[in-house]
Order: sequence, then structure tokens, then C-alpha cells
Amino acid sequence: MAVKYPVTVTPTTKSRLSQVDFSNLPFGKVISDHMFVIDYDGKNWVDARIEAFQNMEISPANLALHYGQSIFEGMKASKLNGEPMLFRPEMNAHRLNASAERMCMPPLPEDLFLQAVKMLVELDSEWIPEKEDHSLYIRPLMFATDDYFGVHASEKYRFLIFTGPVGPYYPKPVKLWVEEVYTRAAQGGSGEAKCAGNYGASLLPAMRAKQAGYDQVMWMDAVEKKYVQEVGVMNLFFVIDGKVITPATTGTILRGITRESLITLLKEWGYNVEDRLLSITEIADAYWRGTLQECFGAGTAAVVSNVSDITWRDRKMELPPIDDAHRPVAARLKKHINRLRMGLEPDTHGWMQSCVDSGVLELVGEEVGAL
Ligand code: COI
Repeated sequence: MAVKYPVTVTPTTKSRLSQVDFSNLPFGKVISDHMFVIDYDGKNWVDARIEAFQNMEISPANLALHYGQSIFEGMKASKLNGEPMLFRPEMNAHRLNASAERMCMPPLPEDLFLQAVKMLVELDSEWIPEKEDHSLYIRPLMFATDDYFGVHASEKYRFLIFTGPVGPYYPKPVKLWVEEVYTRAAQGGSGEAKCAGNYGASLLPAMRAKQAGYDQVMWMDAVEKKYVQEVGVMNLFFVIDGKVITPATTGTILRGITRESLITLLKEWGYNVEDRLLSITEIADAYWRGTLQECFGAGTAAVVSNVSDITWRDRKMELPPIDDAHRPVAARLKKHINRLRMGLEPDTHGWMQSCVDSGVLELVGEEVGAL
């Protein structure tokens, strides 16, 4: 297959694949053999290459380190009848550019993004775990590379992609703390962008919540500290009295691709889905009335992760037990997404895209399969 954007492919001569313990894959710890890299020279994206994953040289004056022009994406690859597949990758390409615009960074052609992800995943397809709740996590990122450190938008950038096999992000149900001191994002800020700073600013509150026995904070809106936002690594869904409610994306929370996919599925399955402002008092009232049936998070890394309890001030709301009978909505969604990724569910929306025939194997020759 002829590739649209030329890429120099230099496969590693020292694959690390045989050293990986696929029965123990904590999220984010294992990195596959190759990475894709392309640079922006101020005018054009140049010098696309796939090479061994390795350290990079960076100037201490690198602008991204100082002023935070750094954005990323999260995606997953699975295997379907032996073929490496991606879930809605065009949505990530699009969202990366939305983040780039907010952070004053150049857009990356979306077909280049797709070509690069497919090539990299096809080349490292043996790294895709074929176990339930496991997948190859893909991390595309873009950052400033100017090394003149006056505050300015960088002229030069690097975009790269690397991958790593992962197990579940949350192996256990999640315990949430309602955060009313710190906030994640305000209207007009960068909350909707997937930029590094949003995550950096969440670390202190998350650490404090962990020290107090919780897994994550549930962010409230920055003005009234009243409306539920997200959890930082996932969007939130609540089932109240049979209705599924998810906080609206009004500019301060991430437009989750999993979130959007779950809303589509739920509507098709006949659920009443409300995508709107949701206050913590509405949740607490539902809890005390006995109508808060489920709460779960949705994200690429987290997929569908059940919340076991929510603590708001001195009140702990213990949600129903984590089993399919008590959490039917989360259970059905999680099962459906997992089965879809493994080809066990018909792909009625055309969400899955194959990485086979990305063109990468022709660029390195036949022997790459034997790396
Ligand atoms: C994702 O779900 O892919 C995320 O980006 C969350 C995270 C691991 C930072």
C-alpha cells in the first residue's frame, strides 16, 4: 500500500518483547519497541520517522518545560481475529487539534495522525495483549521545542507517539472524594483541552485525597463548587431513578470519546440519557431517597469503572454492591465495549479501524515480522 506521508522506518535491532511479563501489566509501566516522531519547523511538519523508543535530547530552555505547551491523547488498540484494531481514532486526531488550537500550537493533518498511529501499531502489533481488560495503550503527544525562554508561543514543535501494553487502569472500584477547595478548570480556561497542565494541577488534591483513603477527587465547578465536573482521568455517569445523567461538556471538562460512545449506545438501547448540569445536592438527595442506583466513570484508560462510594464533606454515600445485578448499566456498557474491541459484537457504527496494510511493513521489508 502506498503511504501518503513519507516516513523513514528504522526498526529496532533489540526488541524488548521477550522480556515482558504479559501476566503483570500495571498501567503505564511497560513501553513497546518503537515510536513515531515528526517535527514542526515553524512552517511544515518534516522528517517523519519510526524508530526505536529511546530517550531524546532536550534543551534546559525548552519552552514546554517552562510554560506548558504540551498536549496529549490516549487511545487503545486491540486484536480482532488477529488484526490490530483502533477504536474511533479519527476522534483523537480531531481532539488533538482542538487542544492544539487552545494551546496556540499548530494543527497536525488528521490523516497524518491516523497514518502514523496505524503504522506504529501494525509494527508493534505483537505487543497487543489478548486478555480481557487488557490492550495496547497509545500515547500521542505534542510539545513545544523552541529553546528561547521568553514567554511566547513556540515556533517549533515535536509530535510523537509511543505505546505500551496495559491492564486495567482501576483494577478495583473507585472511591471518590468531592473536592470543594481546589478546582480543576473554570470557564474560559483550558479544562476542555487535553493539556499537561490540567493534569499537573490535579496532582496535589489527588495526593491529599489518596492520603485520606480515596482513589480520586470528583471535581466541582470553579464558581459555585456545586456542579459535578469529571474525575480527571474519566468522565462521570450517574443512574438516578432509571435515568442516566452525565455532566454536560460546557467548556470545563474533557469531551471524552468513551463518554460520547456510551451516550450513543445508551440512547440506542432505549435509556433516558440526560447530558446536563448535575449538582452534588441532586446526587445526595437521590442517595438519601434511595434512588442513586449507579455511578461509574468512562474514559479510554478507565473504560467503564464503577464507583463504590462518594464522600461529600462528612457524608459518605455507599453505592450498591459491585455486581452485574446491582450495576446493570455499567456492566452492559463495559461488556459491550470490550466485546466490540474483540470483534464479538457487530460494529454497527463503524467505530473499529484496522491497522493492517498501514504500509509500514513495506517500508522496512518482510523481515520486520520476525523482529
Ligand atoms: C486516557 O483515558 O487515555 C487518559 O488520557 C487518562 C490518563 C491516563 C491521563
